Amino acid sequence: MTDIPVGNLSESTARAELARLAKLLARAENAYHTKDAPIMDDAKYDSLMARNSEIEAQFPHLQRKDSPSLTIGAPVASGFSKVRHAVPMLSLGNAFSDEDVREFDMRVRKFLKIDGVIEYTAEPKIDGLSLSLLYKNGVLAVAATRGDGETGEDVTANARFVEGIPHEISGAPDVLEVRGEVYMRHEDFGALNHRQMQAGEKPFSNPRNAAAGSLRQLDASITKARPLAFFAYAWGALSAPLAKTQFAAIEQLERFGFATNGLTKLCTSPETLISHYRKIETRRANLGYDIDGVVYKVNDLALQARLGMRATTPRWAIAHKFPAETAWTRLESIDIQVGRTGALSPVARLLPVTVGGVVVSNATLHNEDYIKGLDSNGNPIRKGRDIREGDWVEVYRAGDVIPKIRDVDLSRRPKESTAYIFPTRCPVCGAEASRTEGEATARCNGGFNCDAQRIEKLKHFVSRGAFDIEGLGRKQIEAFVMAGWVREPADIFTLKRRYGQGENALAKREGWADKSAQNLFNAIDIRRHIPLNRLLFALGIRHVGERAAMTLAKAYQSWQGFLATMDAAQGHEGKAWDELNNIDGIGAVMAASVVDYFHEETTRNLVEGLVAELTVEDVVLQQDDASPLSGKTIVFTGTLSQISRAEAKARAEMMGAKVSGSVSAKTDILVAGEKAGSKLKKAISLGVKVVSEEEWLALADQTR
Ligand code: IVH
Repeated sequence: MTDIPVGNLSESTARAELARLAKLLARAENAYHTKDAPIMDDAKYDSLMARNSEIEAQFPHLQRKDSPSLTIGAPVASGFSKVRHAVPMLSLGNAFSDEDVREFDMRVRKFLKIDGVIEYTAEPKIDGLSLSLLYKNGVLAVAATRGDGETGEDVTANARFVEGIPHEISGAPDVLEVRGEVYMRHEDFGALNHRQMQAGEKPFSNPRNAAAGSLRQLDASITKARPLAFFAYAWGALSAPLAKTQFAAIEQLERFGFATNGLTKLCTSPETLISHYRKIETRRANLGYDIDGVVYKVNDLALQARLGMRATTPRWAIAHKFPAETAWTRLESIDIQVGRTGALSPVARLLPVTVGGVVVSNATLHNEDYIKGLDSNGNPIRKGRDIREGDWVEVYRAGDVIPKIRDVDLSRRPKESTAYIFPTRCPVCGAEASRTEGEATARCNGGFNCDAQRIEKLKHFVSRGAFDIEGLGRKQIEAFVMAGWVREPADIFTLKRRYGQGENALAKREGWADKSAQNLFNAIDIRRHIPLNRLLFALGIRHVGERAAMTLAKAYQSWQGFLATMDAAQGHEGKAWDELNNIDGIGAVMAASVVDYFHEETTRNLVEGLVAELTVEDVVLQQDDASPLSGKTIVFTGTLSQISRAEAKARAEMMGAKVSGSVSAKTDILVAGEKAGSKLKKAISLGVKVVSEEEWLALADQTR
């Protein structure tokens, strides 16, 4: 049948052919992804996919629900299958100075309302990659990398070859998820690189990259040949608690057979944390493996639970980082990059230099004043020394962020050098670039007419916390914008209609084939259903980050509800405007920015065009349906005596409630502490339910 030209197929043969292709392509896809034995080559696959699409174009009503053009996609880029973490893998907030450590301790005390001693553990922060190990009935079942914290990659076969990871445990809870760091010792790293070079392969740039490259091997026998080790330092899902304290839990993991770090110490004050940090710092060079700081954790697990977490970091832990490493190099030129809000960001192009094991060739220069040697208040930095092209500069890296410049060596400044002149026009579109009074950043006034802004906005639109479209990254966005295929977000969703078939089909572009084009169209289709918070974040409204987008989404829940409020708040006054400003976490500047965004014609049209292509999903409040507090609006007023305001708020939110700063007819409960004043009066006059702190605690305990 393959040989019958599509134009000659009758309806019944077309139907049979579509069924055959669906089955065959599904088998091929499966064989390809499981990597066992592909049953056909790419060219054959592409031609069958094309035939399937061609038949569907002729007989659209015959398209099957399981048609390969609808179902095949979701490319598993790396070939690893994905694992969703039952408990997300968190990252840590950072402390860079002793003062930051004291502040961390104060924040913890304030949140918990504790004046007495708080115990902490202090342990090295291992510079490797984190791994989550799930044991079921004492047997290692799944090992997964961190990924984005929510979904990682399944590396179970490889994890079995890592030292310090037991394959079986006796006496463990039925479900035990152990988390820790995979790393490579210096000795082993040196030997591995030696072998790599002898085999004519590229050496790894540092032990962390070597560990990551070795663990993420599709062929586990390669991992086996690479000496990896593991330290356990945390856990995820558990069917029974390990202990009452962090320290005892880690001891328990050690008894189960996990390697744990011997430099873990129990401390009772910020000062003892800092002195342990100094001790570890002096030993750093002789440890035999890389560490990049010391992690402090509240020891009492009941207190950890009360402290809970912010968006991605726990309140009960912090990483005290070692000072950044620095290196001197020549600044060859200064380039200007244009960001999605039009901000002109100067970037230093450097003679490549190694800083802390990583080759650095770019560093941020922040803004015009920074280059001149001035801080945001106009006071001198670097003793007022400016930075010029051709200068020798000291570069440093703090964490994974983009490198920065600390200093400049005037004695090596070329005689002919001249001060850098910051551009007054956008280097991409030529529009005027100006600085608002009091702002350090110059912005291109080209708006949507500036290609650079357009590209950056679109890149943000498809980024991880936003639409996160698989296979649509920086490179593809740039190419589509340059080709004039995509000008605004809505265009992404009409790509298939415009370039799915025919002369100008995407599949015919260089670097694309039927399969990859189809994969992209499928990945785009998957995102036609989008939660409200992701949509709001994706729009790139000034001042609205991921967190604010979630706050707004939770407050209004539906797209219709949200938009109606924005419309009603247009004049920056009235009920809707007040309501918006009263949302906890939304300030006046952000409120104005959001309302104006939906009022301004260009952005409004852009959003309407986009939403027409989408189904915006309501944001369902985190709710335990049994919780009498889910969906309720709560206001706290007066002085709470037993728990802090921050803890009260965090707990209410955990139970699915919304916390607001002011009382209105929409308030469900007012929690009145001591010395409650005007809010209490207002609540009474509106007939809002008022409870005391004790009553509130009882209610919260009930719903735990
Ligand atoms: S605790 C909720 N302890 O650092 C606590 N993390 O910057 C989870 N890391 O993703 C982390 N050594 O990969 C913890 N002793 C240690 C650590 C450690 C290294 C890594 C871990 C984490 C990252 C956060």
